[in-house]
Amino acid sequence: MMTVFSPAGSIRRRLVVILLVVAAVLAGLLFVSVRTVANTAVETTQDAILGAATVAIAEELRGGEDGLTIDIPYAAFSMLGATGQDRVFYRILVGAETVTGYADLPLPDAPLSGLKPTFFSQQYDGDVVRTGAVSRSVLVDGRSQIVTVLVAQTRTAQDAISRQMANQAATLGLGFFAFAAILSIFTARSVLTPLNRLAEAMGRRGPQDLRPVDRAVPTELAPLMQALNGFIARLRGALTRTETFITEAAHHVRTPLATVRVQAEIAMRQTDDDALRATLRNIIRAVDDSARSAGQLLDHATVVYRADQRADELVALGPLVLDVVDSFSPTADMRDIALRVDAPDEVIALQFDRLLIESALRNLIDNAVKYSYADSIVDVQLSTDGTFAKLQVLDRGRGIGDGNSVQLVARFKRGENVGDVVGSGLGLTIVRDVTRAIGGSFDIKERQGGGTCAILLLPLA
Ligand SMILES: Nc1ncnc2c1ncn2[C@@H]1O[C@H](COP(=O)(O)OP(=O)(O)O)[C@@H](O)[C@H]1O
Ligand SMILES: [Mg+2]
Repeated sequence: MMTVFSPAGSIRRRLVVILLVVAAVLAGLLFVSVRTVANTAVETTQDAILGAATVAIAEELRGGEDGLTIDIPYAAFSMLGATGQDRVFYRILVGAETVTGYADLPLPDAPLSGLKPTFFSQQYDGDVVRTGAVSRSVLVDGRSQIVTVLVAQTRTAQDAISRQMANQAATLGLGFFAFAAILSIFTARSVLTPLNRLAEAMGRRGPQDLRPVDRAVPTELAPLMQALNGFIARLRGALTRTETFITEAAHHVRTPLATVRVQAEIAMRQTDDDALRATLRNIIRAVDDSARSAGQLLDHATVVYRADQRADELVALGPLVLDVVDSFSPTADMRDIALRVDAPDEVIALQFDRLLIESALRNLIDNAVKYSYADSIVDVQLSTDGTFAKLQVLDRGRGIGDGNSVQLVARFKRGENVGDVVGSGLGLTIVRDVTRAIGGSFDIKERQGGGTCAILLLPLA
């Protein structure tokens, strides 16, 4: 079977094919045995009639002083004639001499056993004939003579009955096969039901549902269930470790960096040495850079982790945008950049992880502010078309240049326009990953009249 069925083939097809092959073999056997039994029965019946006729003739033989008297009982022939339009031949011999009948009707090869008929088939007069033969000894002229009686009959009627029987056997075989075929389809379906149920139950699970599968399954599926549950448990463990790692890493990276920064600031305040102050300023800048990169890296890890694990909740986009924009106003104020929000009054709600949307939005506004010139305006516009929420972040900054957007989205990729603006190259990656997870789209391009325009399309709840 290994080579007949591909490992990826359907179990149902495999089962049905095997069952059909078995059914076909059984139907064939049924056909052959019904035919054999029927033929034997027909032949036995025919032989019995033939034998009776032969014996009836033999018993009418009378010996005597003046020879042998043969009085053929016509009842014997009518008995044979009753079975069809078969031709009947006979031959009676005294010793080796034919006294009446067809002298060329063949004799049996084996010696005869008295009045118990011997039957044999052979070719005669262009037909196969079945012959019954008996012998008895009769006193003729005072001498005991062996008289042999042969009665032969063509087999037209018997063959016709056999053919009819064969047809019936074939119908029976076909019927059996059809019935088995229907049964095999039902069997295959019923065998696969538990498997399908299990697949359905697994498919219905939400992305966060990492409980072990606890269902009654057939014994054969138990190892699969065990493996599945083992796998789920390992996955749960790995996810928990990832989550722990992300939170711990955030803590263990940020805290020491903050300490270094504070110490450097204190040192800077305490010294008048210009060279030392410059060095300390470089240290502070490097620490800021590291803290920022670490933060972005962990943010991205969080996004990747939560995109699989996402907690679905209803998120009202308007208030979220206002919150995030608010958090940027100190930074923007320092450079005299105005942050304007344009959102409709209607509630625009998404079904997603709030933290992820916030993370994407924060990165876009961060870029807009970072890469804007002082004393300019950053616009955040929210709108909806009924199926998507459209969120645009527009600035009048240095712009990203034409055709760069695809490369800039890559991990750790920063543009040539960055100058001395700090960054890690992960912001747009985060934005893209979040929009992918929610099933939306993200585009960033040159804005008409200068600056950059970032557009998020997010499916509504
Ligand atoms: N609003 C923008 N104006 C100009 N350039 C931008 C803007 N947003 C993104 N970019 C370009 O895209 C690059 C990738 O952005 P991002 O992934 O956020 O990295 P980062 O901001 O850390 O440099 C930036 O380095 C910058 O060159
Ligand atoms: Mg950025």
